[in-house]
Amino acid sequence: YVIGIDIGTSAVKSVLVSAEGRVVCEHSESYPLHRPEPGWSEQNPEDWAEQTIISLRKLMVKAKVDPSEVEGLSFSGQMHGLVLLGGNGQVLRPAILWNDTRTTPQCRKIEDKLGSQLLDIARNRALEGFTLPKILWVQEHEPEILSQAEVFLLPKDYVRYRLTGSFAMDYSDAAGTLLLDVAGKAWSSEIAGAFDLPLSLCPQLVDSSDLTGTLLPEVAEATGLLPSTKVFAGGADNACGAIGAGILGEGKTMCSIGTSGVVLSYENRKDINPQGKMHFFNHGEKDAFYVMGVTLAAGHSLSWFKDTFAKDMSFDSLLEGIESVPAGSGGLLFTPYISGERTPHPDANIRGSFIGMDSGHTLKHFARSVLEGITFSLRESIDIIRQSGKEITEVTAIGGGAQNEAWLQMQADIFNAEIVKLESEQGPALGAAMLAAYGCGWFTSLAQCAEAFIRPAKTYAPNREQADAYTELFEIYQNVYGQTRGLNE
Ligand code: XUL
Repeated sequence: YVIGIDIGTSAVKSVLVSAEGRVVCEHSESYPLHRPEPGWSEQNPEDWAEQTIISLRKLMVKAKVDPSEVEGLSFSGQMHGLVLLGGNGQVLRPAILWNDTRTTPQCRKIEDKLGSQLLDIARNRALEGFTLPKILWVQEHEPEILSQAEVFLLPKDYVRYRLTGSFAMDYSDAAGTLLLDVAGKAWSSEIAGAFDLPLSLCPQLVDSSDLTGTLLPEVAEATGLLPSTKVFAGGADNACGAIGAGILGEGKTMCSIGTSGVVLSYENRKDINPQGKMHFFNHGEKDAFYVMGVTLAAGHSLSWFKDTFAKDMSFDSLLEGIESVPAGSGGLLFTPYISGERTPHPDANIRGSFIGMDSGHTLKHFARSVLEGITFSLRESIDIIRQSGKEITEVTAIGGGAQNEAWLQMQADIFNAEIVKLESEQGPALGAAMLAAYGCGWFTSLAQCAEAFIRPAKTYAPNREQADAYTELFEIYQNVYGQTRGLNE
């Protein structure tokens, strides 16, 4: 067996996976998120470490497997969160998380100071969620804390440190700090130097499937695992989500629709530069990359719509029969910007819209147009990837958006690509377990592991007529952003 541990924002989830790729047992433990000021989002790293140990112990008790049968474990983690450690490895302040928005002035400072160098080296724009703006915030507001810091880590790296006693950060997570030369796979002395940060603050870089140590004796005792259990570096949650969905080779793309929506495409060209329109990060597979676009309110748009206009209905009853509403919802069009947008418009102020309402429209027309608007927004990410010269003919659908037949067909029609639904989906924790399985030498590549572990269940092909109808509508959709921009400024 191997174990995958996903350090999420609300909980840690551990899964025990057999050599055939079956999740035989899983366990989650939650921890609090603190918002001491508006826009702030913090967690106590001690909570992650403690709850991870508890979740491993409970997993082992539930699973009733002999600890000698667990060969290795690895991690997936929420990206970008800043953990600052002092000389004895002590945590110097609460971790500042990916969804903390206090750092707008620091982002401007980074873009002003580095100009085009930022996109050339870090390959991403300075966004509030990323780590470097958080370090600069501490430098400005809590200089006494930064001066005590010996090293910074990301959430899963801190948990790994507590389990093994050693510091490391893998490339897929380091890519979200803005301090990494993404294509060159090294910390950037230009970027660190521009802000007077010593490179010694950055931990040793490793690949996601690298062995970083074994369990400390006290951790082995507390979890019920053996001290010889191998611990592999692990990766960012999006990278592990990609691994867990089999996005491991040219032409592989996934569309994940949860609260937010993500389009993520495998990339082996290190020289492409999406000019900040999309994220460009290192993959969990050695020397590979991925591009990623984000729709902030994907599933959130649908739950907002249900809670506001159909509170007493379940999602299933709200969506029942929407396949009978014609593609294009009878001229009704929705833009899903209810809490701003990221790709292709990094715009926190834009807000959503319904346009083209007709007195004959029913609740079902509205429900369908919400799904169409979310899917159009994700199509914009797919188009940016296609414009980079990549063909996208197949997309693996995961998350809540993969649970409804009509929505899966709609994705095929709007993306103009075949949509693949998987037999069972375990998300980033499975990707972490796959890193451990590969690290243990069970397979010669992650792609071979995916072949053994991940099975497609059903494919949806685009319907020509509907796809054509959507192509026309998509043009109108794309114009709405510019026309509604001034409304909420
Ligand atoms: C990625 C991002 C989120 C976090 C959430 O840029 O901010 O996906 O990784 O866990």
